[in-house]
Amino acid sequence: MISKTMETAISRQINRELYSAYLYLAMSGYFETASMKGFAKWMRLQAKEEQMHAMKLYDYVFTRGGRVTLADIEAPKSKWASAGKVFEETYAHEQKVTAMINGLVDLAKKENDHATFEMLQWFVKEQVEEEEQAFEILNQIKIVGIFPGTCSVWTTSLASANRSKSFFLSILNQVTGYPMHSVLIIDDQQDLLDVTRLFLERYGEMNVDTANTAKEALAKMNERDFDALVLDFDLPDISGIEFLKIVRAKGDTIPIIMFTGVGRENTAIEALNNGADFFLKKGEDPNAQFRNMVHMIKQAVERRSMGGRSALRRGSLRKPSPFFPNRHMPLIARVK
Ligand SMILES: [Fe+2]
Ligand SMILES: [Fe+2]
Repeated sequence: MISKTMETAISRQINRELYSAYLYLAMSGYFETASMKGFAKWMRLQAKEEQMHAMKLYDYVFTRGGRVTLADIEAPKSKWASAGKVFEETYAHEQKVTAMINGLVDLAKKENDHATFEMLQWFVKEQVEEEEQAFEILNQIKIVGIFPGTCSVWTTSLASANRSKSFFLSILNQVTGYPMHSVLIIDDQQDLLDVTRLFLERYGEMNVDTANTAKEALAKMNERDFDALVLDFDLPDISGIEFLKIVRAKGDTIPIIMFTGVGRENTAIEALNNGADFFLKKGEDPNAQFRNMVHMIKQAVERRSMGGRSALRRGSLRKPSPFFPNRHMPLIARVK
């Protein structure tokens, strides 16, 4: 039979494990809204694991003839400043949990409760892993910071993490070797946004964010870097051409694909003259159209990166590259 003191202490730990689940779910939600799907999935898995920890303790108490008292679960916060901040907090939180588990082990020792002591050894080992993971991810985020624009590949890969050391090393290779493109699609047609996003993510292996208005798009571009923009010709607040002018006036050379239902030739020329890299007509064959879009994005990003894209981003360097003095030869793609 378990002692009352131990019963209360384990009940408290159950509460903390469930709070951990709640916290990680909130972090997952934060990543969902920030379009960091890999991190979102990772955190969701963490939340599930914490629930499992709680249930392990819960079942144990009953096995020993005790009772569990469930208390209120504290509400976690819902916003963080960055992925780095989330993992800083995760690491700190796991260290706190380790201290709580150690406290339980000390109590089991004090009470000569060998069964509880034995059961807790699983948690002791688990915490070593939990802390190590949070610490590793935090460090990797710092490394990713050295290679701008490559975070998306890493966050996506996290979704299928096998949690081993070699996994982290392979991620590092991906970060330095195969950058995945992050794309912002600006369109007021929500259904079109959804389907474009799905296609680019699934078939183009891109990390996609969306905006319904020029204002929203500009705000997102201030918050984070994108590798390319897919831009509608008619936006609710300003025209696509005006949007192009604003972006180019800032010295931002981000590749822009004008994607529009307006297919007149002079529309294409106007777009290209105002700084669009490609012009793609919204057509009847979505497959061909999206394949073209993926191709255009990859081509535009590649060419831009050869011309020192990241330095030009956010207007930090306003001079064009000597190798690519102006815009490159535009390619107009028309899809029926
Ligand atoms: Fe836990
Ligand atoms: Fe944990």
